[in-house]
Amino acid sequence: MNYQIQELISEQAIKEKVKELGKIIAKDYENKPLLMIGILKGSVIFISDLVREIPFSVDISFLMVSSYINDTKSSGTVRLLYDLDTPVTGKDVLIVEDIVDSGNTVKYIKDMLLLKQPNSLKICALLDKPSRRVTEIKADYIGFQINDEFVVGYGLDYSSKYRNLPHIATINFEEE
Ligand code: IMP
Ligand code: MG
Repeated sequence: MNYQIQELISEQAIKEKVKELGKIIAKDYENKPLLMIGILKGSVIFISDLVREIPFSVDISFLMVSSYINDTKSSGTVRLLYDLDTPVTGKDVLIVEDIVDSGNTVKYIKDMLLLKQPNSLKICALLDKPSRRVTEIKADYIGFQINDEFVVGYGLDYSSKYRNLPHIATINFEEE
């Protein structure tokens, strides 16, 4: 399929936003046992930058889910592929996700973690596509709201490509 890639959010704008989010999160979680859970693989770059904006010790863990993404559409079925290596009971947990699209992935993870009785549970998403939501879920911390466009870079992929772009770009598919 033919497509064009165009920069949407610059490396500098992402840096500034991550700093800003880090400051707010640091203020909200001061003196709390914060556990940040990155959702693999899309959030690895975001969580790596975000934790370094927090001036106190933060624990990090990861979860991997598959949302059966078919090209650029998620099917709504979520499956756990890799589980946490650390208990969450009694901890202040922040889920760190690359993007909330339909909301199915984050809803599945939130419901799963709530069963383990954390002290608190919030969601931080770098990107939010509110127009695509099919479940009632909202991130507590959001970097940027974007339109209904497929994006890559800074951790996000298209068919396993472009995760390492330092900025975020849109992919525009050409009509056949
Ligand atoms: P959901 O539809 O909110 O469940 O999102 C599922 C997953 O699809 C996200 O965690 C991303 O990994 C991926 N995804 C959704 N929108 C995009 C996009 O625009 N670019 C790349 N990946 C995306
Ligand atoms: Mg993801």
